[in-house]
Amino acid sequence: MDSSATGPLLIEQLRTIYDAEKQLTRALPKMAKAASDQELAEGFREHAEQTKQQAARIEQIFQSLGVKPRGIPCAPMQAMIEEGQRILSADMEDDVRDIALACAARRVEHFEIASYDALAAMTQSTKQTELSQLLQETLREESETDKKLSAISKRLLKESARAQPAADGGEKAPRGTGRDKRQPAAAHGRGRNASRASSRGASNGSSRESEAGGRLGGMTTDHEEIRRWAEERGGKPSCVEGTGGKGDIGMLRLEFPGKPNAKDSKLHEITWDEFFEKFDERGLAMVFQDKTSRGQKSNFNKLVSRETEKSRSAGGR
Ligand SMILES: [Fe+2]
Repeated sequence: MDSSATGPLLIEQLRTIYDAEKQLTRALPKMAKAASDQELAEGFREHAEQTKQQAARIEQIFQSLGVKPRGIPCAPMQAMIEEGQRILSADMEDDVRDIALACAARRVEHFEIASYDALAAMTQSTKQTELSQLLQETLREESETDKKLSAISKRLLKESARAQPAADGGEKAPRGTGRDKRQPAAAHGRGRNASRASSRGASNGSSRESEAGGRLGGMTTDHEEIRRWAEERGGKPSCVEGTGGKGDIGMLRLEFPGKPNAKDSKLHEITWDEFFEKFDERGLAMVFQDKTSRGQKSNFNKLVSRETEKSRSAGGR
């Protein structure tokens, strides 16, 4: 096909997706800040950087086509980002918000996948091989991001389901069993709600009693307190293999003995010094529970952003 026939269409579509990428560059850091799940937040941050490179790739295409690098307002992206903003300002539990954010992000990715797939096909049919390769590179990144988000969503849904109290008012799963191998520090039992409540009232890490008699724990950034709490439960500082970039140890976790999936775990033990160095560098805090509502020692903990928890404690979102 003669490229002059589809030329104006190609430029219009490129300008639309260029605008979409620009909108996303601004939205993703806000989504990262609002996400309480560490992996989800890091995924958003990582994709924000990738999005900047994708916009630069489109600029490169504009340059080789000899047209000005400007955008045409992308209404579908604007609508999807507005949906994301509603999630940020809505009053919902942390786990539900994370699931909603992951869902919204997946919708964005599917829109981008369809757009880049169409653009790559268009340039391929007109033998604009170099342009097609650049577009396919972005298409590959968007598909990868969608896959990661899909895996995170499934894990979050699983954790959220476990966090629902059983019909008798007790906990669905006893501590130390059925815990997701990728998220030993994830919400369990009353943990999610407890963490929210306790982080509001006990940001200095003091413990409180729940209505059901379980000690809710609190939130702390104190190294000694974290180490003591973990070691009392046989917990070891760990990182998740394969989640860090070059020279980075990856996501932090506390690993506890007796997990059913321990042999498959990708957790890798690190020293407390390494753990706390990253813990402070990333501005994390630990939300934890001392005892379950049934009085058993609880391993529930979650590493969260200090900034996010602080603004939630202050009631500001
Ligand atoms: Fe993108």
